[in-house]
Amino acid sequence: MCGIIGIVGNHPVGQRLLHSLEKLEYRGYDSAGIGTIYKGHIQRLRAEGKLTNLKEKFLAHPLQGHNGIGHTRWATHGQPTEINSHPHANPKVALVHNGIIENFEELRKDLESKGYVFESETDTEVVAHLIALYMDKGLPPQEAVAKTLKHLKGAFALAILFTGYDNLLIAARQGGSPLAIGYGKDEKYIGSDAIALVSLTQEVSYLEDGDWAVLSPESVAIFDKEGHSVERPIEKSQVLESAITKGNYDHFMLKEIFEQPLTLESTINAYLKEGKLELPTLPWASISRLTISACGTAYYAGLVAKYWFEKIAKLPVEIDIASEFRYRTPPLPENGLSLLISQSGETIDTVAVLEYMKSQGQRILSIVNVRGSSIARQSDVVLLTHAGPEIGVASTKAFTAQLVLLSLLVLEAAQKRGLLNETTFEEMAFGLRFLPALCEKVLSQEEQIRTCAKTLSNASDVLFLGRGTNFPLALEGALKMKELSYIHAEAYAAGEMKHGPIALLDKNVPVVIVAPFDDLFEKTASNLQEVIARGAPVIVLTDNKGAQHLRSLKVDLLILPQTTSLTAPITYAVALQLLAYHTALFKGTDVDQPRNLAKSVTVE
Ligand code: AGP
Repeated sequence: MCGIIGIVGNHPVGQRLLHSLEKLEYRGYDSAGIGTIYKGHIQRLRAEGKLTNLKEKFLAHPLQGHNGIGHTRWATHGQPTEINSHPHANPKVALVHNGIIENFEELRKDLESKGYVFESETDTEVVAHLIALYMDKGLPPQEAVAKTLKHLKGAFALAILFTGYDNLLIAARQGGSPLAIGYGKDEKYIGSDAIALVSLTQEVSYLEDGDWAVLSPESVAIFDKEGHSVERPIEKSQVLESAITKGNYDHFMLKEIFEQPLTLESTINAYLKEGKLELPTLPWASISRLTISACGTAYYAGLVAKYWFEKIAKLPVEIDIASEFRYRTPPLPENGLSLLISQSGETIDTVAVLEYMKSQGQRILSIVNVRGSSIARQSDVVLLTHAGPEIGVASTKAFTAQLVLLSLLVLEAAQKRGLLNETTFEEMAFGLRFLPALCEKVLSQEEQIRTCAKTLSNASDVLFLGRGTNFPLALEGALKMKELSYIHAEAYAAGEMKHGPIALLDKNVPVVIVAPFDDLFEKTASNLQEVIARGAPVIVLTDNKGAQHLRSLKVDLLILPQTTSLTAPITYAVALQLLAYHTALFKGTDVDQPRNLAKSVTVE
């Protein structure tokens, strides 16, 4: 995923383009660039690596102009070098792009045969030359863009400047790459999302798939795929500048870990009022099965929910990662209910599954953290996690908000399926009210968790184990460890360890076991013995009851507060987040922008 910004108005844009790119770095940070139109001429400044490199260049060579575009890149086609950085340009056009042009090779061959010279390895550059080709034929910019868009296949968002046009900025959106339009008094803006525009305007609208827009300082004209003029509603952005700064924390991720008592409370309060659930009506009583799909951390939230739905609501669940689900194209129950989980609401594989599910007549329920995102806009029912903008690339507060929202859905489903009497429901729902306090307690143990992290930071391989809902938690703990500290970490169902992974174990392979004192604790404790017998160092996340059973063993105990089947995954997630965070600090990796990653994967 890349980040795009554009400003067309009556004031200098250079510095503000860079400031907006700071807000977009979470979308990708392999390279960055800006372009402006000054006295009718295109100016460009690009740099490999983090945005700070571009800022240094700007200090030495500030760009002039009141009309400009900017881009922060997560490389898809072409190495993250300066020559492959955006904006891509030719004498007539400069543009930035998020997404993929799937038919770029054939377009490039055709353009080269017509004498257009390419400088980069990117798919993006074909768009610049194709627009220029139509302008060379005498078409004005708007018509040249309209013609070009008809040739492009794939999902993309574009912002385009034109030589000789100081007051013209054109944007286009096709497929899963979002694009927001911002409305200032005498300026207009384009941004990949409302976060990009937060320091420019709170008045935003969102282009729909196939839309393109013509912006000037005074006006915005939006057209659909067929070229018909359309209106897109202008709404007040929900994003506040304060929500996207680190505050007193060293990293966005740490800030977002510590926000969880609040974000859990606000998510619970949005759907549980005075002990009663306020959720949309869904066919829980009549459906034979629930189908779930997601990616990464969101998938692990869905996996926890599978255990809950099947155990508490006696509702069978099929779940798969979206990148497999979309190509398996599995048969789905007639008039079934399908659930998609996504923090960004833009993950291309999850969007593709949504489209498949719709084609199979499913009722689409989605849990997203970004209002107005692609998945939100294409769902029949949308449930927002009230986690606020999540800037850290590693998902934390969105994950626990997804879990608590899923637990409420499970209680609703169990009630509607006649499996929960009023008393039991009230007890379970009341138990969720303790989550902010449980979370606070774990946060207060940060120093102890940091000590455990020190041990792990010397390892090359770490194994995470858990049973039941602790297994998806082990998966999430391993993912956090991988994506933040770059240590190879794997997770297995504890009962599966003997079927091969135990061969990995020796004194150099620490094992992290997620084991609250639940109905599977004894079984997990046996696996613990097997691990100790192989000489592997062990860290056990458990509670007081569990600790009493393990005191005599030579293991490191992380004793977390007492939990229930619904609150355990959420509470233990916080400990696993801090464990990975501090391990990464010891390793000196870039916690908020880990290498090779982007916040949302909007390209296949
Ligand atoms: C989580 O820490 C990762 N950054 C990644 O696995 C993420 O959960 C995944 O890409 C799904 O993103 P989404 O929730 O925005 O769809």
